[in-house]
Amino acid sequence: MSYLRNRFQKKAGKMAQDYTASTPFDQRLYRQDIEGSIAHTKMLAKQEIITGSDAEAIIAGLTSISEEIEQGEFQFKSELEDIHMNIEARLFEKIGDMAGKLHTARSRNDQIALDLRLFVKEEILKTIDAIKALQFSLVELAEANKDVIMPGYTHLQQAQPVLLAHHLLAYFEIFQRDKERFYDCLKRTDVLPLGSGALAGVPYPIDREFVAQELGFSKVSANSLDAVSDRDFIIEYEASAALTMMHLSRLAEEIILWSSSEFGFIEIGEAFTTGSSIMPQKKNPDVAELARGKTGRVYGNLMGILTTMKALPLTYNRDMQEDKEGLFDTVDTLHSSLEVFAEMLKTIKVNAKRIRDAIKKDYILATDIADYLVKKGMSFREAHSIVAKLSEYAINKGKSFHELSLNEYHSFSPLFSEDVYDITLESSVAARNIIGGTAPKQVEAALKKAREHI
Ligand code: ARG
Repeated sequence: MSYLRNRFQKKAGKMAQDYTASTPFDQRLYRQDIEGSIAHTKMLAKQEIITGSDAEAIIAGLTSISEEIEQGEFQFKSELEDIHMNIEARLFEKIGDMAGKLHTARSRNDQIALDLRLFVKEEILKTIDAIKALQFSLVELAEANKDVIMPGYTHLQQAQPVLLAHHLLAYFEIFQRDKERFYDCLKRTDVLPLGSGALAGVPYPIDREFVAQELGFSKVSANSLDAVSDRDFIIEYEASAALTMMHLSRLAEEIILWSSSEFGFIEIGEAFTTGSSIMPQKKNPDVAELARGKTGRVYGNLMGILTTMKALPLTYNRDMQEDKEGLFDTVDTLHSSLEVFAEMLKTIKVNAKRIRDAIKKDYILATDIADYLVKKGMSFREAHSIVAKLSEYAINKGKSFHELSLNEYHSFSPLFSEDVYDITLESSVAARNIIGGTAPKQVEAALKKAREHI
């Protein structure tokens, strides 16, 4: 009987151990963990909390562990629970009992908060670089097709002509804001939590400023309870990532639409499309579709961490271990999506003729014709109603504005004269010569500015 109970307890113990272990995923933080431990050890020695020779042995041990991991020689053990315990256990194997001094004036609670902040700080900089690369591709594509006029859309209905470059530069601005959001997130991530101990601070004369400097943090956390229980920086990263993915999915959607045979505005390089196994004519924009699709999981990760953190009492709770996988997944998804997009954009061929043909019937100039009447003294409301009737007439006759005779124009308003034929796609875009407008002059200036930014 007692034999059975033991066996049951063993099994239960193993079950709980497997359930609670984070080693399979938090080993990704090994570099940050060791970096943090080395800075902490230096500080302990500097403050004479441990001896200089102890510190040297600990640092040498940690350094060789780091090499072992990098060379793939390290044996991660789930039964040791997490990355911190795995490294510490190995340090004991390497340097003996002296290893026990490393964890002086520290807890795994401030340790994991540190590892995560170091990780997120690095990833923010990588994210910003990846966004920049994407912006670069957008600017290149815009520059290579500077003169192309395309239909601008509202409600996905042709609305007014715009320069394709203007449309692409809209995304440049969008991603500019995304970068700013990540820079902003960096400010709040850039705070050293180490020294907060388990929750209340530590009873040793530690030098937190020194550790901050060693690790490149510009600030030290002001409240130990907050420092071990705050995961806002992860949530901010994931929220910023969700926004960026949302933006990427809008671009993806346009690329998918534009590459369809209905639009035919662009062609995506073969490396970034796939053929169909049974329909030989197809070139599927899979990369763009997947980026659009992956937006869902990035939103999901954000929802996950928000929900995990909701209603957690201060300070550390084990629930918070759930912060990692979603974060890692978001980082990986965001980075691969940005990178593949930047490369895909480089392969896009613009079909200027198809774009032009899409606006052959020049009803897209209706606003310009109304503006023409306004310049001749009519109120905009009246001009709008006249041009509405004119458009209906032209559409029914199957004629473009340019194909209408002056007599036909006159039956709608005596204000029309020969110069109405001067209204063209080119004159329409050129007329919008205000900051932020689509006139070639403005777009040229915007391109120049964009170039300077990246
Ligand atoms: N694996 C833990 C986590 O990721 C590290 C902190 C553990 N602290 C503790 N008191 N068990 O949250």
